[in-house]
Amino acid sequence: MIIEPRMRGFICLTSHPTGCEQNVKNQIEYIKSKGAIDGPKRVLVIGASTGFGLASRITSAFGCNAATIGVFFEKPPVAKRPGSPGFYNSAAFENEATKAGLYAKSINGDAFSKEVKQQVIDLIKTDLGQVDLIIYSLASPVRMHPETGVLHRSTLKPIGKTFTNKTVDFHTGNVTEVSIEPATEEDIENTVVVMGGEDWAMWIDELKKANLLSNGATTIAYSYIGPSLTEAVYRKGTIGRAKDDLEATAFKITDSLKDINGKGYVSVNKALVTQASSAIPVIPLYISLLYKIMKEEGIHEGCIEQIQRLFHDRLYSGKEIPTDDKGRIRIDDWEMRDDVQERVAKLWLEATTETLPQIGDLAGYKQDFLNLFGFGFKGVDYEADVNEVVEIPSIK
Ligand code: NAI
Repeated sequence: MIIEPRMRGFICLTSHPTGCEQNVKNQIEYIKSKGAIDGPKRVLVIGASTGFGLASRITSAFGCNAATIGVFFEKPPVAKRPGSPGFYNSAAFENEATKAGLYAKSINGDAFSKEVKQQVIDLIKTDLGQVDLIIYSLASPVRMHPETGVLHRSTLKPIGKTFTNKTVDFHTGNVTEVSIEPATEEDIENTVVVMGGEDWAMWIDELKKANLLSNGATTIAYSYIGPSLTEAVYRKGTIGRAKDDLEATAFKITDSLKDINGKGYVSVNKALVTQASSAIPVIPLYISLLYKIMKEEGIHEGCIEQIQRLFHDRLYSGKEIPTDDKGRIRIDDWEMRDDVQERVAKLWLEATTETLPQIGDLAGYKQDFLNLFGFGFKGVDYEADVNEVVEIPSIK
């Protein structure tokens, strides 16, 4: 079929298999161009199909020569109905890994469930023996709690009082004011259950009990801080409470891994266009302004550049892993530079529907958003008939 982008709100209903493949190939080429990293050889990535998790899987495989197991929750295609981009990305990743002689297997299912954890445990036991690095990169709006069966929904709300600020509809470029009502206690608790650290700790606990963590095993989850402009809706909002919990969990994990010299870390990453971040009000406007400035300064990065830097300069540099005063690894250092943030804050005041195309990088935002779904890549013939029913080799 011929597949075109069909946008609805902050999601795109279609995705393009050849474009997703191109996206994965571009990321692999980038990693290869940066040279080998002396890193882990057996890696489990939870949330491996898009965004930071996909970049982590690609960096592990093509930078460190690692065998990878990827876990994700994606929609497979059926005739005339394209699958979700993460499905096509993972098919492309496995094909490229196999061509390069690298082990790669995937599990498509709910990572919060006991069943998927068990499937991963069985797979590691039979195929890899143990793992050296576990990346936890889930972004989900819901979690069915494995013990209680309750379905928890996360929210993106401020805490304490209504938050009013500018936002942009990145499809139309319209800058408007948005008001978000404050969260209830229940909203906060639910968001922490979904996006906090409980499930990460459960994974590590299960893997350790099954003796599947190698001596010195490391685990990393991703967090975000961001500037004061977005803090009411992000870091001091419901999602921020979940990130506080995630960050606290890193210390608990390190404690629980003492006997095998293991460590749990949180890496604070840069704001980027992903399926998860486009759903957060205010953030798309912030990102459009941030991109403009970071590109002008020559310090713009996407997920793959961020994770390459995380592995090469932080985790596996051969030196002690640098952390901030709260024990977090920081690869949001360029985003948070004073000069960058001062310029964003100034432009924020000037941003209107009329000025944004000049003062912000709305075009870059849109391009990145299209790319998430496999659209807008050079070298891909979008007029051509394409087979939408692609399979992930290890899931056949
Ligand atoms: P994303 O939406 O691109 O990726 C989410 C991944 O989680 C996908 O692989 C998806 O299949 C998987 N997933 C979701 N629910 C699942 C489930 N129930 N079972 C199995 N897999 C499931 O998200 P993104 O942006 O890469 O986020 C990953 C992490 O990075 C999150 O913790 C996020 O808060 C964090 N982060 C994101 C930033 C951003 O600007 N995008 C900035 C800093 C941190």
